[in-house]
Amino acid sequence: MTPLETLDSAGHKIFFQTRLKELTSLLEAQKYSKVFLLTDEHTSVKCLPVLQEMLANFEDFDLIETSAGEENKTIDFCIGIWKTLLDFGADRKSLMINLGGGVVTDMGGFIASTYKRGIDFINIPTTLLSMVDASVGGKTGIDVDAAKNMVGTFSLPQMVFIEPEFLHTLPERELLSGFAEMIKHGLIADKDFFYKLIKSDYRTPLPEDIYHSVKIKNDVVTEDPKEKNIRKILNFGHTIGHAVESYSLLHDESPLTHGEAIAIGFVCEAALSVNNSNLPKNELKEIADYITSIYPNYKIKEETFEELYLLMQSDKKNEDGNILFSLLENIGHCTYNCRVNKKDVFSALKYYNTLS
Ligand SMILES: NC(=O)c1ccc[n+]([C@@H]2O[C@H](COP(=O)([O-])OP(=O)(O)OC[C@H]3O[C@@H](n4cnc5c(N)ncnc54)[C@H](O)[C@@H]3O)[C@@H](O)[C@H]2O)c1
Repeated sequence: MTPLETLDSAGHKIFFQTRLKELTSLLEAQKYSKVFLLTDEHTSVKCLPVLQEMLANFEDFDLIETSAGEENKTIDFCIGIWKTLLDFGADRKSLMINLGGGVVTDMGGFIASTYKRGIDFINIPTTLLSMVDASVGGKTGIDVDAAKNMVGTFSLPQMVFIEPEFLHTLPERELLSGFAEMIKHGLIADKDFFYKLIKSDYRTPLPEDIYHSVKIKNDVVTEDPKEKNIRKILNFGHTIGHAVESYSLLHDESPLTHGEAIAIGFVCEAALSVNNSNLPKNELKEIADYITSIYPNYKIKEETFEELYLLMQSDKKNEDGNILFSLLENIGHCTYNCRVNKKDVFSALKYYNTLS
C-alpha cells in the first residue's frame, strides 16, 4: 500500500504507512545521547518485533517496559520510570519513543515532557484508539485515583507514526474500543464519514478511514491546540463516558474499555442533546440503535447516579463549578460549553438503561 499523505500538526508531522523511514533520518540527524523505548508488557512482545522489522538497524536503545492497563497510568509508575531514566544516565539530549496504546503514549509523553524539564519524544501508536486519537494532539497525562487524566501537559511529540500493520495482533475488543473514537469524529464533524463507518466492519478498519479520522482530529487540534474553544467538541461523549469509565475501573471485576465507556457517553449525551442543543429525535435513535448493536450492554444502576454525577463534577472542562458538555446539534455538528441541569443528566442515564 502506498503511504498516505503526511499531515502537518502544529510543528510536527504525522506519518502514515512510511514504515518509520523518517525515524531513521531523525536518529541520524539529531544524534541523541540515548534512545529509550517505552513499551508495555504486551507491546514489547507483539509490536517490538514489528518495529524492528521496519527499522532493520535499530539496536542502540534501552527498553523500559511497564505493566499494561489503565490502572497503571499513575504517578507511581512515572516515578519508577523517571528513576530508571536517571539510572540509565538519561540527559536532556535523550529521546523517548513510546510504542503502545493510549496508556503508553499518554504516560510516556508525560514522563518525557517533565523529565529534566522535557526531552524529545516520539509516538508510535499500536492500538486503533491511540492511532486515531491519543497519540495526536499533544495531550499527555496520568490519572489521579478515579479522576481520569487529571495531571498532564500539552506537549507535542517530535513525530507520530501511524502504521496500521500493528493492528494485526490487537484483540477484537480493543479494535471496538478504538472504533468509538472514529465514530465520534463522524458524529462531531463529518456526517458522511459517520454513515460510511456504520456500514463498515470495526474488526477490519480501512487505512483510509484511520487516516480520515486522524485528519478530523488533527484539523481541530491545529485550530485550537490548548482547548480554549473548538477543541472542546472532541470531548463529546466524554463527560458521562469518563465518569462511567472511572466508576467501572473502581467497581467492576472486568472494567469497561475507554471506548466502551465513551460509547455509553455518546448515547447519553446524544439524549441530552435533544433537549439542550436541538438534536433531532430520529438522529438520537440512529445513534442509540447503532451503538447498542455493536457495543456490549451495560447496566448503569440508578443508585450510582449520584456517584457518577460527582465524578462528572471533577471533569477538566468545567468552569466555576458548572459541568460543561459538548453536545450535538445534529449528526456531523457539535457545539460546546453547554450547561445542563442535573435532572436532564439523570434522565439521559435512564434513557441509556431503557435500551438494554
Ligand atoms: N491524549 C489524548 O488525547 C487521549 C485521547 C483518547 C484517549 N486517551 C487515553 O488513551 C488510553 C486508552 O488507550 P488504549 O485504548 O490504546 O489502551 P491501552 O494503551 O491500555 O491498550 C489496550 C490494550 O492493548 C494492548 N496492546 C496495545 N497494542 C497492541 C497490539 N498492537 N497488539 C496487541 N495488544 C496490544 C495493550 O497492552 C493493552 O493491554 C486512556 O488512558 C485514555 O485516557 C488519550
